[in-house]
Amino acid sequence: MTVTALIVAAGKGERLGGVTPKQFRPIGGKPVLRWAAEALARHRRIDAVRVVIGQGQQALAQAALRGLDVGELIEGGTQRSDSVRNGLVAIGGGTVLVHDAARPFCPEQIVDRLLDALDGHDGAVPVLPMSDTIARGGAVLESSVDRSRLLRVQTPQAFDVEDLLYAYDEAGGGAATDESSIMLAAGLKVAGVEGDPLLDKLTTQADWHRAEALLAGRLVPRTGSGFDVHAFSGEGPIMLGGIAVPHSRGLAGHSDADVALHAITDALLGAAGLGDIGEHFPPSDPQWKGASSDLFLAHAARLLRASGGIIDHVDVTVIAEEPKLGPHRSAMRMRIAQILELGTDQVSVKATTTDGLGFTGRREGIAAQAVASVRLARHG
Ligand code: CTP
Ligand code: MG
Repeated sequence: MTVTALIVAAGKGERLGGVTPKQFRPIGGKPVLRWAAEALARHRRIDAVRVVIGQGQQALAQAALRGLDVGELIEGGTQRSDSVRNGLVAIGGGTVLVHDAARPFCPEQIVDRLLDALDGHDGAVPVLPMSDTIARGGAVLESSVDRSRLLRVQTPQAFDVEDLLYAYDEAGGGAATDESSIMLAAGLKVAGVEGDPLLDKLTTQADWHRAEALLAGRLVPRTGSGFDVHAFSGEGPIMLGGIAVPHSRGLAGHSDADVALHAITDALLGAAGLGDIGEHFPPSDPQWKGASSDLFLAHAARLLRASGGIIDHVDVTVIAEEPKLGPHRSAMRMRIAQILELGTDQVSVKATTTDGLGFTGRREGIAAQAVASVRLARHG
């Protein structure tokens, strides 16, 4: 039986607020919807992922899902139940896992538990016990409720598509906030499997902040190093640390030969395990001829951040007998911070000579070495 994950992402996210609906907003470097879609798409027992979105959300959804195979986007409706029903009709048959886009972190075992529990039940949903005291009332409490038989119901929720469509026809969708309520109203049997706090829905600002803190706690520190050399050739000025430094001689190179930016770029790529500058910008490619090296550096920073990484600090040492760099250090530091979108206190620029020894000592060229300290997201 084909298993399709149906992600409903057609809401407006009014309780969270903000201009962009929550499912399309980035958290830990990725849109919420993308987290949800990737978690389900990589599960070996899920054959397809489909996504329901609202009117006018096409561009946001496409950007969030770029590169993922989700077939054609399905248009949702006014209420969540309308969105789910549209999705079910588009899928047609088989087993469905209906999931809220607003629950970005779905552990793998949940899907296994749900699919296993479908044997012998009409549906299966993840549940958790209540830990707070539960009471009825408004501004004034009326009575407390025995919580021992109450459950918090999460998504994804597993059903046979035809059973669920039957339940929708019998009971109607209306204001139901999930599928288990509709199945129960239609008299069908739904199993509860153990849920996971990671699946809690992002509804309010407090939920969002909790999720951000959770992701920050999963960041791991990494360090990368970079080294580069360019030979003197022709006339100055030279590009160094993203600024033009006046000098009688220039530097030879395919791009603008900024050794400092090249070393930092390599350090960032190294820290992120993303290869080296030559792989990303091959010197054989004519489009990088004379290229301004701030492009390379900004690209490395973007790649690292795209997967939820954070750049904590970069430190570069320029090794040159000439020109004298002391007067330019502060401008280099500010320019590098600007390219990397960091504070100047997160960037260090140092300069040294090699005491007349070696190729730098013989004034044949300039070298630079850099270290980048970053934190990377452990996904999954
Ligand atoms: N949803 C949907 N279609 C709707 C309403 C909601 O597909 N007409 C989706 C949401 O995008 C979300 C999930 O259902 O992934 C759970 O709904 P909820 O948390 O209520 O999200 P929103 O309706 O977007 O938020 P709010 O109620 O605060 O406006
Ligand atoms: Mg809602």
